[in-house]
Amino acid sequence: MKKGIFFLSLLCVSAIAVVSCNKDKTPLVDPNLDCTETVSFNQQILPMISNNCVSCHGGGQSPTITNHSEISTHATAILNSLKGVPVLMPDGGPALADSLIQQFECWINQGKLDN
Ligand code: HEC
Repeated sequence: MKKGIFFLSLLCVSAIAVVSCNKDKTPLVDPNLDCTETVSFNQQILPMISNNCVSCHGGGQSPTITNHSEISTHATAILNSLKGVPVLMPDGGPALADSLIQQFECWINQGKLDN
């Protein structure tokens, strides 16, 4: 019985730790992601957004995401939408390849470079 209470408190403490530690981080970023290679905004990120998103998000549908500053501003919302939160993008699916989503995630982790 005592053991049960001990583990229960341990669980509570770790739950609190996880919640408070995650507060400052970008949501949904995978901590195990391998981002050893520097992602190029101009060669990888911009083409991915231009090919898959700008037909709707080029000034019509909000958010407008056509250049480095707009894509940086909306980076978290874009990443979440690629993972289906709150709605999957591109609208109507299918989701982009995991490798492209990971590239975008690495680009955020590397400081959203304009390179
Ligand atoms: C066919 C048109 C279309 C395409 C292509 C498209 N979107 Fe969207 N997008 C929409 C519409 C419509 C909404 C509003 C959906 C809603 O609020 O339910 C939206 C909403 C969004 C939002 C805001 C979601 C929120 O409420 O927080 C983001 C971010 C987004 N899209 C990103 C993207 C990205 C990134 C791509 C490319 C991978 C993309 N969209 C491709 C039509 C599109």
